[in-house]
Amino acid sequence: MHWDTQRYLDRHGFIIERGQALADLLAPQAGERILDLGCGTGDIAAAMAERGAQVVGVDASPAMIANASERFPRHDFRVADAATLPFEAEFDAVFSHAVLHWVARAEDAARGIARALKPGGRFIAEFGGHRNCEALETAFADALKRIAGRDYRSPWTFPRLPDYTALLENQGLVVRAAWYFDLPTPLKGEDGLRQWFVQFLPHHLDGLDAATREAVLAATEAALKPAIWRDGAWWADYRRLRVAAEK
Ligand code: BEZ
Repeated sequence: MHWDTQRYLDRHGFIIERGQALADLLAPQAGERILDLGCGTGDIAAAMAERGAQVVGVDASPAMIANASERFPRHDFRVADAATLPFEAEFDAVFSHAVLHWVARAEDAARGIARALKPGGRFIAEFGGHRNCEALETAFADALKRIAGRDYRSPWTFPRLPDYTALLENQGLVVRAAWYFDLPTPLKGEDGLRQWFVQFLPHHLDGLDAATREAVLAATEAALKPAIWRDGAWWADYRRLRVAAEK
């Protein structure tokens, strides 16, 4: 999918702020070699490098890597697919924030992560867990079908916690801690919800005429307003899965 990197920075910068908090859990040490898997616009990789780590940031999106390389030209950013990682026992840690739900081949990604780590290396990740964004996807799917006659197909995989920890352990990682928690997330401003759909599901809206597109977004807002609009923001029903594992 094509990423609108400017919209991402302008409207969804909270993802970067949360990634910084996850990086604190990883606690990168000076001199460590760290892989940021799905580095997006590169902000977290750059912050970890500021702490003295040698960071390689990879992302499947050429637009994201172009943005990261332009904004942080001293750092190492590369286009790579999470399901076919090319690294072999070379990282002290693999870090991944808000990315793995995009990777349908979760087992291949886990295999590549395990292979990329040195013995004793750590893996810290957070992404969408079971029923993440369920209200958002249900309302959007209903509006898309009713107004545009299109079937919605989710581009995401939101695993249950025990399934995901088993998948990691099957690849030889030892899960030290795992969490599954609700994280209602404010999408600021009256247009915050539609910005979210336009950013993350653009392919479902592509090719619709302007009036139909507007009707789909307006109907989605109307369906969700009673449940998730409060205090001047839309509250997305995020549910997170966070894991800390070691090789
Ligand atoms: C998430 O971080 O949970 C997420 C972000 C964008 C689209 C879907 C899920």
